[in-house]
Amino acid sequence: MAKKGTLRAVLVGCGGMSRAWLSAAAERSDVDIVGLVDIDEKNAQSRADEYGLDGAHIGTDLKVVLGEADPDVVFDVTIPSAHTNVTVTALKHGCHVLGEKPLADSMANARRSLRAAQQAGKIYAVIQNRRYNPNIRRLRRLLAKKPLGQLTTVNCDFYIGAHFGGFRDRMEHVLLLDMAIHTFDQARLITGADPVSVYCQEWNPAGSWYDHDASAICLFEMSDGLVFTYRGSWCAEGLNTSWECDWRIVGTKGSALWDGGEGIRAQAVRKGGGFHAEMRDLAVPELSARDRVGGHAGLIDEFVHCVRRGRTPETVCTDNVKSLAMVFAAIESAKKGRKVAVKY
Ligand SMILES: NC(=O)c1ccc[n+]([C@@H]2O[C@H](COP(=O)([O-])OP(=O)(O)OC[C@H]3O[C@@H](n4cnc5c(N)ncnc54)[C@H](O)[C@@H]3O)[C@@H](O)[C@H]2O)c1
Repeated sequence: MAKKGTLRAVLVGCGGMSRAWLSAAAERSDVDIVGLVDIDEKNAQSRADEYGLDGAHIGTDLKVVLGEADPDVVFDVTIPSAHTNVTVTALKHGCHVLGEKPLADSMANARRSLRAAQQAGKIYAVIQNRRYNPNIRRLRRLLAKKPLGQLTTVNCDFYIGAHFGGFRDRMEHVLLLDMAIHTFDQARLITGADPVSVYCQEWNPAGSWYDHDASAICLFEMSDGLVFTYRGSWCAEGLNTSWECDWRIVGTKGSALWDGGEGIRAQAVRKGGGFHAEMRDLAVPELSARDRVGGHAGLIDEFVHCVRRGRTPETVCTDNVKSLAMVFAAIESAKKGRKVAVKY
């Protein structure tokens, strides 16, 4: 490390999302961006100009820039098919890695990255910014003391008519791979449960502006017998849900609703015995200073803290791989037309 306590970082992949990362890094005095890499050098140079990173090493080859800049950490903001090679290269160089979602473009590649992290003894964590959202943390705080009893059922709807007009219009499994990874990961955060099996049907609805399946319904069996259902589409005009989805959470003693924004409601049984139980409204807790929030900036903050103190981030690859496995199992189920086990 050059300045005492300052982490030297190389960022790889200087496209659209890199701005969120570089803006978050610019707010910190303990992270120096010492290198920018992109297969298209113009992209790296233009981010260096935009963020005033005059001293940063610029290049198209990660290995060369790692040799020149000697960073402590690598930020991987490349496209999904490049994540494994970038991650493994950085880990082999002795760097900790924080990478964009998804962890990898296949389970085989995910396992390569997990092995490399273990062999290097370094952290590899993944950005899942939708779990660093204040309202999901309030919901989790509400559920933590189990006022709904044992959770039995979680239903979630995602309906957004999204006209991206870019690579997503041509992409296979676009909804499951590019978006549902966030939702499945949120389901794991909300329930604390691990995935066991899934049945999924994917289709491209009539009138779709996508080349491939943009709608899906998944039925997951989770640990403890919990059932989690996901209904989603990026090709549904009108009455959009939020990007965080619409949720219903059912337990043995009550239910909760979350609209993805500030709208959280919950009721628990006050008195049973009648046709309908008598219910009471539950107070929704405020955010605590200990809650992990802040999207990309929050995740980068936690990563820096963990690198410094030798701790493990919440989205470490060995945990995040469970969310990725839900995506690939759903795709496998849709292809086979039957229920499959979620393996990770
Ligand atoms: N967390 C979120 O909410 C969120 C939102 C959008 C995108 N993303 C993720 O961020 C990542 C990047 O997405 P984007 O929208 O910035 O894409 P993009 O296409 O705008 O940018 C990707 C950049 O990576 C470069 N690149 C590709 N392969 C490379 C390689 N092997 N080495 C170096 N550079 C390489 C490209 O030239 C391009 O400049 C993806 O994994 C995407 O899923 C996350």
